Amino acid sequence: MTTTSKQYYTRTAQVLHWIMAIIFIAAWLIGFYSGNFLSYDVDGSFKGDVISLHKNIATTIIFLVVIRIFWRYTHPAPKLPDTMSPMMKGLAHLGHLFLYLMLIALPISGCLYSWSAGHPAPVLYLFNIPQLIDKNPDIMAVVKPLHIYLSWFAGLLVVGHIAAALKHYWIDKDNILQSMTRQK
Ligand code: HEM
Repeated sequence: MTTTSKQYYTRTAQVLHWIMAIIFIAAWLIGFYSGNFLSYDVDGSFKGDVISLHKNIATTIIFLVVIRIFWRYTHPAPKLPDTMSPMMKGLAHLGHLFLYLMLIALPISGCLYSWSAGHPAPVLYLFNIPQLIDKNPDIMAVVKPLHIYLSWFAGLLVVGHIAAALKHYWIDKDNILQSMTRQK
C-alpha cells in the first residue's frame, strides 16, 4: 500500500461495522435456534419470546444500514493492497456487495414474513414498523422460504468474510483487518 492512500476506515464506519456485525450474528443465531430447535407444540410461549427477541434485534439493521450506506458513499473505503491480485480484489468487492444486499434483503424479507403471517415487526421492544401488507398465506408461502434461504446464504457469506479477514491478518500479514479496528 502506498503511503499516500488512506489506510483506515473512519471511526464512524468502524463503529457501524462492529455494531452491525454483533447484531447480525446475534440475530442469526437466535433465528437459527428458534427455527431449528424450538416448536410451538413442545416449547409453548418460549418460542414466541425467542422469535420476538430475534425480530426486536434484527429490525434495527434496517435503520443502521441506511446510515451505513450513506456513510460509505460519502467516505470511500481504503484501497485494497497492491499485493492482492485483480481477481482477489474483484472477489472481495463482490463479497462486500453481497453482504450489503443481505443487510437489506434479510430484514425486509423478515418483516414481510411476519406481516404476512399476521404478526408485527417490532423494534427494540419500543415500537412496531408500520405494517405494509396484511396477513396473506400466499405471500407467506413465498417470503418464508425466501427469508430462510437468504439467511443461510448470508451465514455462508459472513463465514467467508471472517475467514478472509483472518487470512489477511495471519497469513498475508497486511493491514486489512487493522483498517477496520485502528486509526493509526
Ligand atoms: C439481519 C437480519 C436477520 C437475520 C440475519 C435473520 C436470520 C434468521 C435465521 C438464521 C432464521 C432461521 C432460519 C432457519 O429456520 O433455518 C430466521 C428465522 C426467522 N426470522 Fe429472521 N433474520 C433477520 C431479520 C428478521 C426480521 C427483521 C424479522 C421480522 C421482523 C425476522 C423474522 C423471522 C421469523 C419469524 C423467523 C422464523 C423463526 C421460527 O420459525 O422459529 N427475521 N431468521
